[in-house]
Amino acid sequence: MIKTLIRGTGRYVPERLVTNDDLSKKMETSDEWIRQRTGIEQRYWVPEGGETGASDLGLEASKIALERAGWKPEDLDFIIFATLSPDIFFPGSGCLLQHKLGLSSTPALDIRQQCTGFIYGLATADAYIRSGMARRVLLVGSEVHSTGLDVTTRGRDVAVIFGDGAAAVCLEAVETDEPVGVLASLLFAEGKHAASLMLEAPASRITPERITHEMLDEGRHYPKMNGKLIFKLAVTRLPELTLQIMEKAGLTSLDEIDLIIPHQANLRINQFYQETLKIPEGKIYNNIQKYGNTTAATIPLALDEVIEQGRFKKGDTALFLGLGAGVTWGANIYRHAEVLPSR
Ligand code: UT7
Repeated sequence: MIKTLIRGTGRYVPERLVTNDDLSKKMETSDEWIRQRTGIEQRYWVPEGGETGASDLGLEASKIALERAGWKPEDLDFIIFATLSPDIFFPGSGCLLQHKLGLSSTPALDIRQQCTGFIYGLATADAYIRSGMARRVLLVGSEVHSTGLDVTTRGRDVAVIFGDGAAAVCLEAVETDEPVGVLASLLFAEGKHAASLMLEAPASRITPERITHEMLDEGRHYPKMNGKLIFKLAVTRLPELTLQIMEKAGLTSLDEIDLIIPHQANLRINQFYQETLKIPEGKIYNNIQKYGNTTAATIPLALDEVIEQGRFKKGDTALFLGLGAGVTWGANIYRHAEVLPSR
């Protein structure tokens, strides 16, 4: 059977460190409020001035992942780029990254699944690989949030949460009957909650010109969030989702999972989740304290860190899961392994 294995990972965050105290100089907020309500201590944002898009951060992460996989860009036969903050409205950041990697015809697919972007991306890559449509896939999650945040008191509930960053994984088809690689994926969406976390404008549905001066004045080009609703959905659905995907993967106990990487939207969400399922300390990995919420980059960024720290070894089983705008939610179970490529 064809299975999907991770061959290399890489991460990249921009150099500009923004602390909670830095934000409190721009809006009415405080280090205490941000830490208590979210767990976030700092985040990295792209430099002011210049042009750094999601594909630029993605490029740096991709170069590291490719090097660790021992691949050249030419070895790729598919690119999947997950972002809610594309460099430009169109074409997709995957196409921009493809060019920056020096490639000329490798297909590139953008996906717009926000906080579950990596989870949807891994499920998509796995489906392409298992169907024989691709053998070597580069999956990138990358976000430049900072240029789209309302960094005033009006936008403080959203602005303090998000950080910029990127991470990439190299995925390869292997032929094996061992239970390794992507063991299961489960994806959900509920569009009725779309307005609960959305960036409304500019948008094609707004006539005559996608955005008006009044909308700009009202700040409708910034993301708006019903934080309480998203919080509630996350703390109820993530435990349910865990049991659902374990069943799908044929796992009967949480003891069979060595590592859980939940999306990093709010440390309190992950603490509720941990308490609900009575997950032992040390099995969940959180890094929101350092990066804030980097949306599609979050899970691969954490994955790259745990691999680097030796906390996710060959033979270990990991659960990736999250919920975010859409709303979308989903999970993957992945067993790390060393299996030789089948070509
Ligand atoms: O990854 C995408 C998915 N997103 C999420 O999962 C986010 C889920 N939601 C959350 O993480 C939380 O709802 C937030 C962190 C966004 C907000 O925390 P909260 O505990 O739900 O606070 P709140 O919105 O109920 O606001 C409480 C108070 C309000 O003031 P009043 O009305 O009580 O006077 C807010 O105006 O805190 C105020 N507030 C702030 N104060 C200082 C809101 N943002 C800030 C801020 N600094 N940054």
